[in-house]
Amino acid sequence: PTHKLLLLPGDGIGPEVSAEVEKVLDRLAADGSARFEVERGLVGGCAIDAHGVPVSDADVARAAAADAVLLGAVGGPKWDGVPYEIRPEAGLLRLRKDLGLFANLRPAICHAALADASSLKRELVEGLDILIVRELTGGVYFGEPKEIVDLGNGQKRGIDTQVYDTYEIERIARVAFELARLRTGRVTSSEKRNVMKSGVLWHQTVTALHARDYSDVELKHELADALGMKLVQAPKRFDVIVTDNLFGDMLSDVAAMLTGSLGMLPSASLGEADPVSGRRRALYEPVHGSAPDIAGRGVANPLAMIGSLAMALRYSLDMAAEADRLERAISSALDAGHRTADLARPGETAISTSQMGDAVVAALSAS
Ligand code: NAI
Ligand code: MG
Repeated sequence: PTHKLLLLPGDGIGPEVSAEVEKVLDRLAADGSARFEVERGLVGGCAIDAHGVPVSDADVARAAAADAVLLGAVGGPKWDGVPYEIRPEAGLLRLRKDLGLFANLRPAICHAALADASSLKRELVEGLDILIVRELTGGVYFGEPKEIVDLGNGQKRGIDTQVYDTYEIERIARVAFELARLRTGRVTSSEKRNVMKSGVLWHQTVTALHARDYSDVELKHELADALGMKLVQAPKRFDVIVTDNLFGDMLSDVAAMLTGSLGMLPSASLGEADPVSGRRRALYEPVHGSAPDIAGRGVANPLAMIGSLAMALRYSLDMAAEADRLERAISSALDAGHRTADLARPGETAISTSQMGDAVVAALSAS
């Protein structure tokens, strides 16, 4: 089959790391494992420069039609002065909104070769492989009322409201259970049902859905504060973690620090499954930003971007074996001692973005 990909390199180091993903795609295509039709578009500052908006309607339409969107990073000091509505990040936000991307997937994987860069001891994190599934479009970041009220006595009141409806909880839990089936089959659902009504509904809804449709998957519940503690104490006991927007924001940043480097972290955002094709709209991107401090020097670590492609292969293109192969190639490049500047420790020689891409391609070829 031919897979339609939309590549949106963006700004700063985005184009540099995207070029390495194109090398990997060429290698996979040359192996005959799949055909890729790669379109390119603009998002962020480069789109502002070209069209006056941070993403064009045409590129949003192409994103909606693609099997997967791969995005580099957006933003940079050049666009600090542009009006708020058309700032570079607004392009990314529009894509997330228009594609209905409600599920944010953040894996935290700790490669043995990098375990010493983790904030925790090697034995706690070596071989770590967890996946945080964060609800992205609901909860306290969006609930109404949301305002600052003047109480008239010199006091003001800041109000945010946590709102979750059953369908929002069900659809994110469904994503978590389905992903768990592709992994080791364990889900931990997290909320604070001891103090929050939305947490009670979350717990009930996930429990009922599990009994109805996913009883083959192991389900556990953890209160979000206790989960934060256990993630730092014994992270390897977890597989898939599903949680709301706020707790997911915090817990995924905690999990990121278990792995070592920002340049290593991929992510995915998924939408609803199409009732006919079963296909989900999806956008894959590294967690890091456009890194203006190192942009243009060819030294950025491309592994978060290449890892994002591996997620696209697994979750959008039905190419799990190729995803495994690509993830193994990333590991073997690291095992062989290849380090970009962000990973190199004193005394270790750093290689360029392009050399790291070549090392992954070479490891793929050898596999
Ligand atoms: P950043 O992630 O761009 O950089 C933080 C630090 O990590 C910098 O020192 C950078 O050099 C380093 N770093 C990041 N990715 C790296 C990689 N692949 N290899 C080696 N080192 C890497 O975050 P920062 O500096 O806060 O933001 C810079 C710009 O990026 C801003 O305009 C911000 O708005 C934007 N941004 C965009 C995001 C996106 O496109 N999703 C996410 C976060 C920030
Ligand atoms: Mg965050």
